[in-house]
Amino acid sequence: MATVFLAGGAGYIGSHTAVELLEAGYEVIAADNFCNSSPESVRRAEQITGKTIRLYDADIRDTRRLAGIFQENRIDAVIHFAGLKAVGESAEKPLLYYRNNIDTTLSLLETMQQFGVKHVIFSSSATVYGSENPIPYTETMRRGVCSNPYGWTKAMTEQILEDAAKADPSLSVVLLRYFNPIGAHPSGMIGEDPCGIPNNLMPYITQVAVGKRECLTVFGNDYPTPDGTCRRDYIHVTDLAKGHVKATDYVLQHTGVEAVNLGTGTPYSVLEIVEAFERVNGVKIAYRFGPRRAGDIPEFYANADKARELLHWTAEKTLDDMCRDAWNWQKQNPNGFRDSE
Ligand code: NAD
Ligand code: UFG
Repeated sequence: MATVFLAGGAGYIGSHTAVELLEAGYEVIAADNFCNSSPESVRRAEQITGKTIRLYDADIRDTRRLAGIFQENRIDAVIHFAGLKAVGESAEKPLLYYRNNIDTTLSLLETMQQFGVKHVIFSSSATVYGSENPIPYTETMRRGVCSNPYGWTKAMTEQILEDAAKADPSLSVVLLRYFNPIGAHPSGMIGEDPCGIPNNLMPYITQVAVGKRECLTVFGNDYPTPDGTCRRDYIHVTDLAKGHVKATDYVLQHTGVEAVNLGTGTPYSVLEIVEAFERVNGVKIAYRFGPRRAGDIPEFYANADKARELLHWTAEKTLDDMCRDAWNWQKQNPNGFRDSE
């Protein structure tokens, strides 16, 4: 079976993808500098599957280090998760974001070229559609104007990969545009483990539920949506991870570039998420309304047809599954992976 190299594989989405790839029969190798993760996530992925993952403590920007890893292993495909992802921080530290997110891409592509590795999947984001495109977002739409440097690193990386594939027709690239991944592996052994105050909705809710934060601030209730709060296309991280398995099957068999949305196609509002979390888990979430957050747009969700047609993948889990699994992870690991380090 083919061997897949996960750059940034100790992170939230990388660790869940490792589990699904191993369960589908792929060999998995991972490298991470743990700037936003812990090696414990990879150990847990091994425990869940009963299989081993060769894990390197390495900065993906370091081409010498990468060459060593590619020398030691016969790598068939690369999944590029390695990036910084905090939207607000990216506006404060744009150079850090451009340096990290673009350099990881260039180093990976150069090393792939050096070792003749032709298959790559990139963690892109719905943010590349910008705010001008009509919803639902469809892959035939042009990339839009991003509202922050993080988003631009995703748009630029897509462009770099497209140019690389144009120059080398034997290259095979899948750009996976994630919508809003939430939830955790049903075992509760791996999940999202943000450092400091969570930026994203679901980890904030679970930290309120576990007593680490007092109250959720809902950013704006005067949007042109049914209940006035923003609507997003939330997707269970295990569904998303399975989308990577299908993308790996695909990328190994094709050449050229394909952008593919990974979403459910159904949006939920912030208040609907709070309501579902309370109902499914029998806990109360204290919340108050605050001002709008800069850069938020009222609503976006995926047209998920291409993923179904091209990758034979559809999201299967419900919002209730997402809420239950997010809480199961947080309850079992109130301090994330830190308790086990
Ligand atoms: P994450 O922070 O948990 O995972 C990213 C991993 O990359 C971390 O383990 C981090 O330590 C590692 N990393 C970063 N820079 C590195 C470097 N220079 N060298 C080695 N390792 C490095 O985030 P995630 O939620 O798992 O996201 C994975 C990818 O998906 C990211 O590229 C992110 O931008 C993208 N994405 C995430 C979301 C989301 O909502 N979670 C949405 C769209 C796209
Ligand atoms: N929200 C709150 N309170 C919070 C946190 C979030 O009300 O404490 C709201 C936001 O205003 C938004 C919704 O919850 O309406 C979802 O917010 P997230 O931060 O969880 O997610 P975003 O849709 O803002 O961002 C996500 C990813 C980004 C990606 C973007 C577009 O985190 O990486 O989608 O694809 F760029």
